Amino acid sequence: MRIFLDTANADEIRQATKLGVISGVTTNPSLASKEGIGTLKGYRDAVLEITDVVDGPISVEVVSVEAEAMIEEGWGISQWHPNIVVKMPSTRAGFEAIAQLSADGVKINQTLCFSVNQALLGAQAGSAYVSPFVGRLDDVGQDGMSVVRDIVSVYRKHDITTEVLAASIRNPLHCIAAANAGAHIATVPFKVLTQMIDHPLTTAGLARFTQDWESATRQ
Ligand code: E4P
Repeated sequence: MRIFLDTANADEIRQATKLGVISGVTTNPSLASKEGIGTLKGYRDAVLEITDVVDGPISVEVVSVEAEAMIEEGWGISQWHPNIVVKMPSTRAGFEAIAQLSADGVKINQTLCFSVNQALLGAQAGSAYVSPFVGRLDDVGQDGMSVVRDIVSVYRKHDITTEVLAASIRNPLHCIAAANAGAHIATVPFKVLTQMIDHPLTTAGLARFTQDWESATRQ
């Protein structure tokens, strides 16, 4: 399972890239707004900065809600850089935009996916990636990871090549479960990436090795 970073913060992306563990980035309007980005131009500038740091798919979400506007906006976004993947919501208008843009060669990440049916339809429409939102399903008392598992299983049964991108990941256990479920990718916030690295026994073990080595070199 590949790991993408779920952020619009270039510094976080720089730090994570240095570790050699991330191969793409996902953004959305909320993440952009968290970075003080409030215009399409600002979003574009931030994304172009990210493309300088990461050589992999960068998902950028449309903010239009009508099909025609989504198609126009999505096409425009796709022209920013060859690594751009356009995020389209799992709505009727979204499916129309996915069908049109994927036929025109634009890579689509079908976002806000909460069911196997939405994932099945999105794959037919031409989504390159589908993003089931694990944490948001958990938040409303539904098992988010079971949706990931079911999408992976149905796609496998029917030789569907759309990649399953586990999103709305809230903790390290979600990452393990997504990998076990067979998700192709998990997109993780920087905080979760840090939690995946840190282990108290590693920290304690390293402190002990350092201490023992220092006392040995003092003898
Ligand atoms: C990524 O593609 C999604 O937009 C993101 O993972 C949503 O996460 P959230 O539910 O924590 O906002």
